[in-house]
Amino acid sequence: MAHKLTFTARDRLKLLLGGSAFALVGCGGGGGGNSGVTPPLVVTPPPTPPTPPAAFEPTVGQFKNAFAANFEIGAAIQEDQTLDADQDSQILKDQFNSITAEFQMKPEIIAPTEGVFDWTVPDALVQFAEDNNMVIRGHALLWHQATPDYFFAGTPAEVRTRLESYITEVVTRYKDRVFAWDVVNEVITDDNSASDPYRRSNWWDASGGNADYIDWAFNAARAADPNCQLFINDYNTELPGKRGRYVTVIKDLVDRGVPVDGVGHQMHLHVETPLAEALAAIDAIDDEFMGLIQHVTELDISLYNDPGSCFGDQTGCRADYGDNIPASVITQQAELYRDLFEGFAARSSVTSVTLWGVSDAQSWLNNFPITRTNAPLLWDRDRNAKSALQAILDPDFTP
Ligand code: XIL
Repeated sequence: MAHKLTFTARDRLKLLLGGSAFALVGCGGGGGGNSGVTPPLVVTPPPTPPTPPAAFEPTVGQFKNAFAANFEIGAAIQEDQTLDADQDSQILKDQFNSITAEFQMKPEIIAPTEGVFDWTVPDALVQFAEDNNMVIRGHALLWHQATPDYFFAGTPAEVRTRLESYITEVVTRYKDRVFAWDVVNEVITDDNSASDPYRRSNWWDASGGNADYIDWAFNAARAADPNCQLFINDYNTELPGKRGRYVTVIKDLVDRGVPVDGVGHQMHLHVETPLAEALAAIDAIDDEFMGLIQHVTELDISLYNDPGSCFGDQTGCRADYGDNIPASVITQQAELYRDLFEGFAARSSVTSVTLWGVSDAQSWLNNFPITRTNAPLLWDRDRNAKSALQAILDPDFTP
């Protein structure tokens, strides 16, 4: 209810001048010739601003439970996020039922020196998953990055033996505990004019100028754990060129009986990624290969739609929003997240969806491809759920 207040002219002046009215009036010698009684003024104070809607807070388990019939909800994490003192640990336990090591199960961490294995952190991550009724995806057995140089030394036969022995050690250690491994990561070229679909890399060279290492890796993983789901994983499958090459390689592997169980789509997207192209990545695999399962392995939605040069020599990157992220960009992001989850849930081959992090504070995109404020995830820097999470979970909410 609005209150009407009665003010004298002097009160009104005081209000307008922020408390100095009495002094001013005193200096002016008493108000000129107006000697009569000042009539009271009736002032209606401005309306009270509406109370902002209560911040959205998912109920315990709401995110993972919402998709329990469709897929696991995963997050990429580092070991410190599993510790009770860390602000992400409770979010993880409450809202996620799958984890992936963001980098702590890559070869340079597990075996920095040939034949010397350090299981401390990987063991702790696997234990955290088991203690909290989560599954854990293994990431990644073979990649052209985060791999010590010794892996690439010697003849192709020596490289093969070393790779097989590394994969056998790692997959055997977590047999029946890690439910899926990214066996090969990013082996497809980004070059749309290339004569074959394979990335030219340290692995390509060490194999003797071919992609035989892919077969070696899958066969060793299958021999070590017959029940583990074995994945090929890559990024930019939302782009038609890369997607076509991905399909070509997977078709070849399947035709030759290489033990591939699943296809991973990293889905490092940005706010202007067309929804249809992201879902077309899933459909392209379903169309060709009934029976292969699919995981969205590294989902995030960058605020910035950068040109290729930004990822190459870090030029032409979109300007940093800093603390002034436009509301329209956050809305765009929420809408894309909402529509993606709806699309994934409608596709039965998708059995796992992993976000590449928990909160915007910890995302790799704050430092890649350049150092810049990014906000690509579902919880903000203060660990408040973002409108994107609300849009995913609440059909009545319009971001
Ligand atoms: C990134 C991590 O997020 C970083 O912390 C790390 O320094 C480098 O690797 N594709 C992948 C992931 O398959 O392993 C990468 O993770 C992101 C791109």
